[in-house]
Amino acid sequence: MELIIQPDDRAIATIVADAVTTLLADKPDAVLGLATGSSPLAVYDELVRRNEASEVSFARSRAFMLDEYVGLAAEHPQRYRNVIETEFTGRVDIRAEAVQGPDGLGEDIPAACRAYEDAIAAAGGVDLQILGIGTDGHIAFNEPGSSLASRTRIKTLTRQTRLDNARFFDDDLEQVPTHCLTQGLGTIMTAKHLVLVATGAHKAEAIHHLVEGSVSAMWPATIMQHHPHATVLVDGAAASRLQLADYYRETYETKPAWQSL
Ligand code: F6R
Repeated sequence: MELIIQPDDRAIATIVADAVTTLLADKPDAVLGLATGSSPLAVYDELVRRNEASEVSFARSRAFMLDEYVGLAAEHPQRYRNVIETEFTGRVDIRAEAVQGPDGLGEDIPAACRAYEDAIAAAGGVDLQILGIGTDGHIAFNEPGSSLASRTRIKTLTRQTRLDNARFFDDDLEQVPTHCLTQGLGTIMTAKHLVLVATGAHKAEAIHHLVEGSVSAMWPATIMQHHPHATVLVDGAAASRLQLADYYRETYETKPAWQSL
């Protein structure tokens, strides 16, 4: 796992956007994995800027979302399908039909989850997966206790996650859905490159466990320690509980120029 400490989210965004730009230059029909939430917003803004400047094209790419709330009406602005369109996919040249997410309005939930797994596999798997991390260590919506081998399925959101996300629902916990469909940890682990971004002191404990803790379902993101190509980008606040922070800084500063992300 590579740990990169940067001054702020804009510096992080440049590095992640470089990786996406390089991937799409090498493989224009690459499959991207997209997270919602606040963490990747600077990355999406930078990719939009580059797309407008014709520095990167998403025209032949495809994208799969990590998760979706169950039961939010199709037009609800916080439905992740709508959020990702507003924040990113609707602002670049990716085809609308090339963006898929789990169907949180499907009547047969297990069938919708199986169909989503099949769609990811049929696309050849995700080449680069952008991730955020919850304060309780979740990635996608794999809450503590999630099977480390889990696949796309329904999950109950923890009270902590609902509290964290109430800011998107008029600060009203009652409006935050209780359930979601989420790619499993096993699904996420099939992506070829995992790129997790986190900023702020409220993420410091989760980042500490992710990078330096024991692999455990109690901190689901720790499964990333088993991934052969995982990159974690954080600001100083999110890195504040890392025991080996100085070593990670030195490693990045002295990284050979030929070594990519
Ligand atoms: C959302 C997702 C979640 C978020 C996490 C952090 O698609 O996968 O795991 O990445 O809840 O959310 P933010 O970035 O809003 O702190």
